[in-house]
Amino acid sequence: MATIFIDGQVGTTGIEISERLRGRADIELISLANDERKSPSARTRLLQQADVAILCLPDDAAVESVALADGKARILDASTAHRTHPDWAYGLPELSPTAREEIANAQFVSNPGCYPQGFILLTRPLIQAGLLSASTPLRCHALSGYSGGGRQMIEKFRDFSPSQADTLGVQSYAHGQQHKHLPEMLKYSGTTVQPLFTPNVANYYKGMLVQVPLFATELNNASPAQVHEVLSQRYADEAFINVASLDAEELMDGGFLNPTGCNDSNRIDLMVMGDTQRIILCARYDNLGKGAAGAAVQNLNIMLGIKESSGL
Ligand SMILES: NC(=O)c1ccc[n+]([C@@H]2O[C@H](COP(=O)([O-])OP(=O)(O)OC[C@H]3O[C@@H](n4cnc5c(N)ncnc54)[C@H](OP(=O)(O)O)[C@@H]3O)[C@@H](O)[C@H]2O)c1
Repeated sequence: MATIFIDGQVGTTGIEISERLRGRADIELISLANDERKSPSARTRLLQQADVAILCLPDDAAVESVALADGKARILDASTAHRTHPDWAYGLPELSPTAREEIANAQFVSNPGCYPQGFILLTRPLIQAGLLSASTPLRCHALSGYSGGGRQMIEKFRDFSPSQADTLGVQSYAHGQQHKHLPEMLKYSGTTVQPLFTPNVANYYKGMLVQVPLFATELNNASPAQVHEVLSQRYADEAFINVASLDAEELMDGGFLNPTGCNDSNRIDLMVMGDTQRIILCARYDNLGKGAAGAAVQNLNIMLGIKESSGL
């Protein structure tokens, strides 16, 4: 039985991971009382006692936890702090044929960011197949429910009365192109140009869409069917990746694509839509599922040598 400590257990991601691990016979969860959960000495005790510590913390606290653990536990970090660090494995099992082995053998694993997962899974195979040049500047338009911003953003949306909350609608942000997810999007997709990233947060709890719009001329004039074939082949054996049929009609509701369609699952839907001139790549998933907690449990299973889908 593996001993697991979730540092940040009562936060948005920590709660979701706890729910997925609760009741598992192969895992013992150890935790701190609420009045001790931010105490460095109490955290140190459990960080050094655990087989794996899962960090569900702001970046600065995650860096502190790694120091407090002092090399005694393996670490799975859900924050942004170590995602492009050369000594850390990037916890996206579907990234490459060697990703699972790297995660399984690593002492330090960084869970991927919610937005980057969709962007990377959509673009990397096309760059590797030579359909998309690594030097082609890419745009990424994205939408997330407000739980993507953790407790503080959840409170911001929920503290309003329903009519006031309506005024929050959809809000764009990170206009200055300094979003903290950009470095990993660049590093793991294989593009050599920092993408133009336009994220939005909307007045619903969870679920996201990540879209990469492309002109066919940017894809060597490939047809949507050719692009679709590359993604279908690449992910044919991946249990958590569903490449929808071309144009994804089965996922539409009267022509609309609902961002909550993968909620409460670890599934990610990938879509190729458009015509012979303009193509939209799209990923849909639960930001707290495959985007955070589901991905963490998948990585934990791989780290422990347990069946990858356990608890998912
Ligand atoms: N939410 C998502 O969809 C999502 C997706 C992917 C990755 N992530 C990443 O996962 C991490 C956690 O995000 P979240 O959404 O779960 O945030 P959250 O809801 O704000 O939870 C963070 C938790 O950490 C606690 N905390 C803060 N400083 C601490 C310290 N020094 N020691 C111990 N605990 C401390 C917070 O307590 P207080 O609330 O009392 O301050 C809170 O319980 C972040 O780095 C985030 O970027 C989140």
